[in-house]
Amino acid sequence: MRYKTLKMMSLALMAVVSGCDKLHITKVGGPESESETVASASLNCTAQTEEEDYQIFPMTSDGYRIGDVMPYFEPGTGEIFVYYLKDIWDDPSNERHPWYGFTTTNFYEYDETCTDALLASSDQGCDQDFAVGTGSVIKKGGKYYAFYTGHNPNYPSSCVSKKEGVMLATSNWPNQQFTKKANFSTIYPPTGLGFDEQDNFRDPFVYEDTQNNEYVMLISARKDVNGTWKGVLAKYTSGNLLNWTYDGVFYDGGADNYFMMECAEVFKINSTYYLLFSDIDTKYVYYRKSSSANGPWSKPTGIERFEGKGIYAAKSVSDGYDRYLMGWTHVNIGHTDGGAPGWGGNLVVHKIYQKANGDLAVTIPHTVENHLETTAYSLVKNSQWGDVTNTQAGSHSYRLYSPADYDMANVIFDPVMAERYEISATVNYVSSARDFGFMIGACDGWNDLFSLRFVPQENRFSFDKTNRSNLDTSTVPDNDVPFALSPGVDYSVRIVIENSMVVVYINDEVALSSRIYRAPGTNWGIFADHSDVTFTNIEVTTP
Ligand SMILES: *[C@@H]1O[C@H](CO)[C@@H](O)[C@H](O)[C@H]1NC(C)=O
Ligand SMILES: *[C@@H]1O[C@H](CO)[C@@H](O)[C@H](O)[C@H]1NC(C)=O
Ligand SMILES: *[C@@H]1O[C@H](CO)[C@@H](O)[C@H](O)[C@H]1NC(C)=O
Ligand SMILES: *[C@@H]1O[C@H](CO)[C@@H](O)[C@H](O)[C@H]1NC(C)=O
Ligand SMILES: *[C@@H]1O[C@H](CO)[C@@H](O)[C@H](O)[C@H]1NC(C)=O
Ligand SMILES: *[C@@H]1O[C@H](CO)[C@@H](O)[C@H](O)[C@H]1NC(C)=O
Repeated sequence: MRYKTLKMMSLALMAVVSGCDKLHITKVGGPESESETVASASLNCTAQTEEEDYQIFPMTSDGYRIGDVMPYFEPGTGEIFVYYLKDIWDDPSNERHPWYGFTTTNFYEYDETCTDALLASSDQGCDQDFAVGTGSVIKKGGKYYAFYTGHNPNYPSSCVSKKEGVMLATSNWPNQQFTKKANFSTIYPPTGLGFDEQDNFRDPFVYEDTQNNEYVMLISARKDVNGTWKGVLAKYTSGNLLNWTYDGVFYDGGADNYFMMECAEVFKINSTYYLLFSDIDTKYVYYRKSSSANGPWSKPTGIERFEGKGIYAAKSVSDGYDRYLMGWTHVNIGHTDGGAPGWGGNLVVHKIYQKANGDLAVTIPHTVENHLETTAYSLVKNSQWGDVTNTQAGSHSYRLYSPADYDMANVIFDPVMAERYEISATVNYVSSARDFGFMIGACDGWNDLFSLRFVPQENRFSFDKTNRSNLDTSTVPDNDVPFALSPGVDYSVRIVIENSMVVVYINDEVALSSRIYRAPGTNWGIFADHSDVTFTNIEVTTP
């Protein structure tokens, strides 16, 4: 129902929203270019050369990746604006990640706002905002206030004494260029209170605290807290968005010490307040809960994260019905699986909701689910090995029984020749002394493969590139998410693949977004290693 409403609304809206002068709405995505050849009996595990025709996980139409996102919901038109830092720092234009924007109503079709930057970096090397950085947008009295980080990479120099400060630009439209407010006094760290006064003062997040009838700004900073340097969130308050007063440390990590808690956000679902931040070191997004807008903040009852490293700088936005979490999944340098993680990547969006115990969980947005589950794709089984039983005639349902370590019972499928698709199944295990799950980019069925695997003994779901023969309990995962696992439980699994973006949803509770160049167009399958597990209704669907 809501899906249809949103679709109809989006058509109506395009006409209503007036654009900027240079408005040139470009569809993200390009011509289909995948070869239609299907691998024969031998397995294909060759990584696809990275393509740029993303739709579900967008990047820019001129081939750039995106960094930190700053979502804003426009109630008047029902559109979600996804402001982001465009990764054009290291390119010849040398524009140092200015703000650009996407709009969407469904999370699988994105339009771009202006072809020009919505907020550009200054071209004056002494200006505080020689590079603009992350911030947030809030609407007041018909005006859009964009608070942003002014970051000067020339610090320290004769004319730059502070590396970062918080600045303001405004606009009368959410999709037009923001005008910098020269008379807004740049906010710098408080002096004499133990803050790092020269650096590490960024990512302002501004929201209205209706409980206390004021605007609040959280700024990521570093401070000496009782003799220990910690990443903290500094709190400022204002009645008018223009004059801000320092109001103490909002959160200092509690028992934990983060170097920087980046891109913090506070939101409320039902009667619980949530604080979200990105740990600059691990790249994990963590959250805290409170019954009051100002804390105290405590860790959730269950795990303190619901994703891996693939949704950095995540922030959420509510459309009035549901709340969506968005961030970016890094590319690898050189676009190879062996490359180190780079800055910037593709947008990834989950629906985020509250569980009965007040903890947060994530799942696929219903619009994306409907879109991806439109057309059944005819799955071709390539081969199987070990103790494999088809549990339901006419469907790809298999019980895999493996009695010993490294005895890899498996079923391998031919490559899916589609630009974007979803693999779904229900997984239920009787016992597991090692692991089971999905093979991605399988060169063989027992060793040289990437795995998306359930590890019940460690209560986590893991992505590993490591060959099976080298994989043990001390292996550092390429990416993982904690998840309590029990035998005899049906776990729903969805794996969404578009080029090198691979996003897994487990049981509508946790997600794992990863960059896997070897995923598209290669052989894949299911496996069990020293486990007894049933995969029911393995299906592939496409838009
Ligand atoms: C193997 O997969 C890659 C990546 O999709 C593709 O470029 C190549 O053509 C495939 N090779 C064969 C023999 O199908
Ligand atoms: C900046 O100037 C505008 C008018 O140009 C005024 O409305 C605004 O209040 C000023 N801001 C501050 C912080 O003084
Ligand atoms: C600093 O230490 C004192 C004494 O142990 C304690 O009372 C106070 O709460 C601490 N302050 C912070 C911010 O942790
Ligand atoms: C806000 O600050 C400006 C200068 O930055 C000042 O002129 C103005 O009076 C202040 N307004 C309030 C409400 O404090
Ligand atoms: C609010 O709580 C109810 C009951 O626990 C739950 O069904 C609902 O999903 C929650 N609302 C949101 C937006 O998560
Ligand atoms: C993984 O195994 C394959 C063959 O089994 C081998 O060619 C490759 O070098 C191995 N990779 C690593 C990193 O050990």
